[in-house]
Order: sequence, then C-alpha cells, then structure tokens
Amino acid sequence: MRTLKVALLGCGVVGSDVARYMARHAADLTARIGAPVEFAGIAVRQADLPRPGVPEHLITTDADELVKRADVDVVIEAIGGTDRARDLITTAFEHGASVVSANKALIAAEGAALHATAAAYGVDLYYEAAVAGAVPLLRPLRESLAGDRVTRVLGIVNGTTNFILDRMDSLGADYAQALKEAATLGYAEADPTADVEGFDAAAKAAILAGIAFNTRVRLDEVYREGITAVTAADIENAKAVGCVIKLLAVCERSADGSSVTARVHPAMVPLSHPLAAVRGAFNAVFVEAEAAGQLMFYGPGAGGAPTASAVLGDLVAVCRNRLAGITGPGDAAYQQLTVSPMAEVTTRHHLILEVAGQPGALAEVATVFGRHGVSIETFSQRQRDDGCALAMSTYPTTDAALSAAVVALRDMDHVRRVTSVIRVEGT
Ligand code: NDP
Ligand code: HSE
Repeated sequence: MRTLKVALLGCGVVGSDVARYMARHAADLTARIGAPVEFAGIAVRQADLPRPGVPEHLITTDADELVKRADVDVVIEAIGGTDRARDLITTAFEHGASVVSANKALIAAEGAALHATAAAYGVDLYYEAAVAGAVPLLRPLRESLAGDRVTRVLGIVNGTTNFILDRMDSLGADYAQALKEAATLGYAEADPTADVEGFDAAAKAAILAGIAFNTRVRLDEVYREGITAVTAADIENAKAVGCVIKLLAVCERSADGSSVTARVHPAMVPLSHPLAAVRGAFNAVFVEAEAAGQLMFYGPGAGGAPTASAVLGDLVAVCRNRLAGITGPGDAAYQQLTVSPMAEVTTRHHLILEVAGQPGALAEVATVFGRHGVSIETFSQRQRDDGCALAMSTYPTTDAALSAAVVALRDMDHVRRVTSVIRVEGT
C-alpha cells in the first residue's frame, strides 16, 4: 500500500487545524481512503512562529519547491489571497498534484481557468471549504441534486457578519467591538473588509450560483452591499416590526430559466423565519429545487476546526480518486445564462421617512410611490413634535422602481430625511 503525500500551504487558522485533525484522524483517514496519507511539508511565511501540535520538521518557507515535488499527490491551499495562491495551485497541477482549496476569493475570480488547468493535467480541484465552512453544500449541489433543477439558493454565508449582527441585535454590542471579537475567534478574513463589505459573501454567492445553475457567474456580476451602513437604529427598527437584520446571499433562476441573479445585501428577516434563528458565526442556506422542494443546510460557517472538517472531506475524496486513477466532477458550468442586473430584481422593502407635519404630506408621499409603481403593503406613523416618522413596507417591486421612488422622495420638500431603506426577505 503506497502512502499518499500531502503538501499543506498555510498553517494559520485553517491550516493549523487541518494539520492537527489530519494527525488526530490518521487511522480513520487511512481506512476511508484505502491508503495512509502523510504530510510532505507545510509551507508558511514565518518559519519561527509557534505552531502547537504541528511537527516543526515539516515547516518550510519554500512553497514553490514544495508544490513541485514529484512525490506530492495533493496540495491543500490555505494561504488565502489570489495571485500567489493561483500561481502555487497552477504549479501544483503542472507537477501532477490534485488541489484542495478553502479560498473562495480565488475560486470566484479564477475558478474557470483553474478548472481548465486541472482538467488539462488530469487532476482534481475541490473546494467544499470555500463556502459555508463545515456545512456540506457544494457537493450536495453538484452531486446529490445533479438530477434536479435548482431554482433558488438563499442564506447566510458569512460567519463574521452574522456574528457581528447577532451581537448587535442580542447584546446591543458595539460594531467595532463585535468585529474585533470575530477576528480573535478566527472567523474574519486576513483583511476583514472582505467580510464586512460583503466581498467574501459575494465570492461565495458567485460560486454557489455557478454550481447551482451550471453557468458562469462572474464576481462583478454579483450585486454586493456589506453591513457597514447598518446602524443600531436599523436593528431597533427591524425589531419593532418583528424582524432581524441578516446579511443574505440570494441566487435565483428566472421563471423561464433563461437568466439568473446573484446578490448579497443586508435584509430584514421575520423572526418566524428559520434564518432569523441563525446565531453567532453559523451559516444556513436554503436550496429550492423543482423536484426536491426546499432543503436547508445549517452549521458552523467559519473557524479553524469546522473548515478543516470540510478540507479533510475533500482530501479523502481526492485521494480516493487518485488511487482509482480517476478525477471527480470538474467545472460545473456547461451553459451560459444571462446574469441580470440588480435593477431587475424584485423584493419587498422597508422604509423609514421623516416627514414634515403638514397637511398633504402623506398624500404626496403616497403619490410618489404610486407614480413609480411601488405599492405600499403596511404603513404606520409615529408623531413627533415637528413632524412624524413614517414606517412603511412595500409589496414586491423591482430595485430600479424602488430606487427611483427613493430619489424622488429625497427631493420632496415635505420629506426631511429618508432614514432607512432595507430589503425584506423570507416573508
Ligand atoms: P490565516 O491568515 O490565519 O493563515 C494564512 C496562512 O498562510 C499563514 O500560516 C501564513 O503564514 C500562510 N501564508 C500566507 N501567505 C503565504 C505565502 N505567500 N507563502 C506561504 N505561506 C503563506 O488565514 P486563514 O487560515 O483564516 O484562511 C486561509 C484561507 O482559508 C483563506 O483563503 C480563507 O478565505 C479561507 N477560509 C478561512 C476560514 C476561516 O474561518 N478562517 C473559513 C473558510 C475558508 P504565517 O503563519 O507564517 O503567517
Ligand atoms: N471570513 C469567513 C466568514 C470565513 O466569516 O464566513 C469562512 O469562509
């Protein structure tokens, strides 16, 4: 029985737990793969950092040499970033190794080219850990649902922002403090802007939409808003109407099947919806398919150990393929559907306006909505000394129509301020 050799790139939050769990589960991995696996080396930037539980003799700072080694069967990429990771992965393919990656930023940006290179060299590229941490999601979409037609994927795919919003909602925590805590717990990206500005979730949405709808969805085709503009007042306003604010990724196929949309933005979710109960750094994703109906995937979406679980699952699959002399599923995109812009997406909205307390003000607001084809579903007003605060929710309307109505409202003399505009999902 030959021993399969693994090169690990990166030994930070994810890589160090991959190393620890690979050692801890060695006997089971051997039995499940049908051959022992061991590290050929572990590449890092700084050789002298303490890495408890990681054998020192495996540490190297020469990642280029490691991925070129003829005895390496599988490279696990856990360094993050795009250019360096892409170059190392490409070199690994060229030298005959399969690759397991946790790098959503890279896969979203260059997945198609990487899949093509992997196919050219007859090796595998797997990345279950790139989306939703420990939650098995890509393999079910790619394999278990391969006989069905997915119509919608909706969920929470970023642990850091869910952690922050949850802390702000349940403990009234300060945004900056909650972000610091998420980084300390190993949930945040090396540059947490990727989390809070929605880039990380957008990369995951691009990957999810691509696999779910078997089409190419570029990162710049995913509409993206992060959570940095969400205020404590927004959270209180959501509570007042029985909702919670979550950063959602939503990928949808049009009714006629000819186009798709992918978007990431904060949204109000009713407390009665299962997504509202997703706490801390957990992720939850609903998948709707024509025959299967609605499926929910839920679990830890970030952190070293959960991500290591997904990485090692891929390692087992890739090693089995290698021993069998085959490769697993490659690029999922076999059709080129149109990716429609956000302007065409239809959702409900919740708005708060500060309006002057003058006769006719309300009627004018209603007229502006009507003129833009936006229907009001619910409406309430709170009297203030010098006017009133209007809270209203709309029936589903296109983003373009709602945005045009908001621009017109901001121009009105009677409207002092459009305090908050937030989309509503899960009603
Ligand atoms: P860390 O910053 O904790 O770790 C990065 C590791 O890569 C470090 O060990 C670092 O070395 C090493 N490294 C960075 N650049 C190089 C380089 N050029 N050559 C060799 N080694 C390098 O990141 P994470 O572990 O959090 O994330 C890694 C990847 O996993 C990212 O793609 C991330 O998006 C993804 N991911 C992260 C999750 C999480 O919860 N943290 C969850 C799912 C995916 P050194 O230690 O010497 O600095
Ligand atoms: N930074 C990411 C998150 C890690 O918070 O979800 C998991 O992909």
